[in-house]
Amino acid sequence: MNLRQGLAVLPARRPAVDHDASPVGALLVSAEQFITQFYGENLLRSPDRRLRQVRREIEASGTYWHTPDELTFGARVAWRNSSRCIGRLYWRSLRVRDRREVTAAPDVAAESVRHLHQATNAGRIRPMITVFAPDAPGRPGPRILSSQLVRYAGYQTAGGGLTGDPANADLTRLARELGWPGGQPPGRFDVLPMLVQAAGAPVTRHDVPADAVLEVAIEHPEFPWFADLGLRWYAVPVISDMYLEIGGVRYPAAPFNGWYMCTEIGSRDLGDAGRYDQLPVIAAHMGLSLASDRNLWKDKAMTELNVAVLHSFSREGVTITDHHTESVRFLQHVEREERHGRACPADWTWIVPPATSSATPVFHRYYQDFDQAPNYYRHPAPAPRKPVDGEPHEYVD
Ligand code: ARG
Repeated sequence: MNLRQGLAVLPARRPAVDHDASPVGALLVSAEQFITQFYGENLLRSPDRRLRQVRREIEASGTYWHTPDELTFGARVAWRNSSRCIGRLYWRSLRVRDRREVTAAPDVAAESVRHLHQATNAGRIRPMITVFAPDAPGRPGPRILSSQLVRYAGYQTAGGGLTGDPANADLTRLARELGWPGGQPPGRFDVLPMLVQAAGAPVTRHDVPADAVLEVAIEHPEFPWFADLGLRWYAVPVISDMYLEIGGVRYPAAPFNGWYMCTEIGSRDLGDAGRYDQLPVIAAHMGLSLASDRNLWKDKAMTELNVAVLHSFSREGVTITDHHTESVRFLQHVEREERHGRACPADWTWIVPPATSSATPVFHRYYQDFDQAPNYYRHPAPAPRKPVDGEPHEYVD
């Protein structure tokens, strides 16, 4: 079977959920689709034997176990199908760490720390995923509640303000409820502990050892005062609050990473008014007037912040890309996918970079977007803990 024929049998979209079908029936359909795709794209012999085996396994146990090759292929194709990601040209290079035997929270945390070391690779960042135990009937897999393995705390201050990253205020509160002392005193860039939940067990916190977290101090190539702002960021974004779905099987803990594009840090993490809000600070140091928007102080400050991020990561030998390079690569990827007879799902609102958009080629066209498994899906945010009697109800609602 050649590639195109193999793919032709696959629906372009995920079938609408059939509410009448039993969970086992739905699983059978998804499993069959995935196994057929795996055999088709990898130009393997007929999938019939494997299909029969999978069917028997599902009928007997309500689930099935992917072979290591199926898991690797599934995790890579899940990246390929992630319509919000501009960095998909390298989907085939994803390293897959098969840790499906791991279920206990301390082991999940320890393997996640190993993931950080291996993915960081002293700055030559490797795209990587670690796959923990899948959900099975009556036996859910573990979950990581932290949105990334490395996150900076956001502390509510007495005066109603916030120190650190506001995006992580809830995680920080949860960590403190679990006894995390926090920075003494609270700092702007304190690495949070990982929060992990094994099935049916309470959430536990696990410190991330300092030597597992490579960080870059942000300096500017021309502005000596920039270093004094004390800005920094971590090298590797390991997303840990999404589940991986392959052939109807859900892997609830499957942290994965690529490398950063400068605008993620420069325009958003450090730039957003609801995050570190550094544009006014930088503009003021640049001697720009903040009295009106019309002198474009935000635009100028954002550009210099992005320059500083790129410069600093390069200085430390840490892999990072810029939005111009990555836009060109993304269109190469779309073209390559089309040559393979596949449409590349893409979400314009996520693909187009948040700075200098119209100067990047990805801006000047539209894309088809559709949901196709295997894929990564975001877990709902962790439920607030129920207060015990007499406790203030601040976390409920
Ligand atoms: N935008 C997120 C952040 O700033 C990271 C998302 C994943 N990014 C990546 N380059 N793989 O932390």
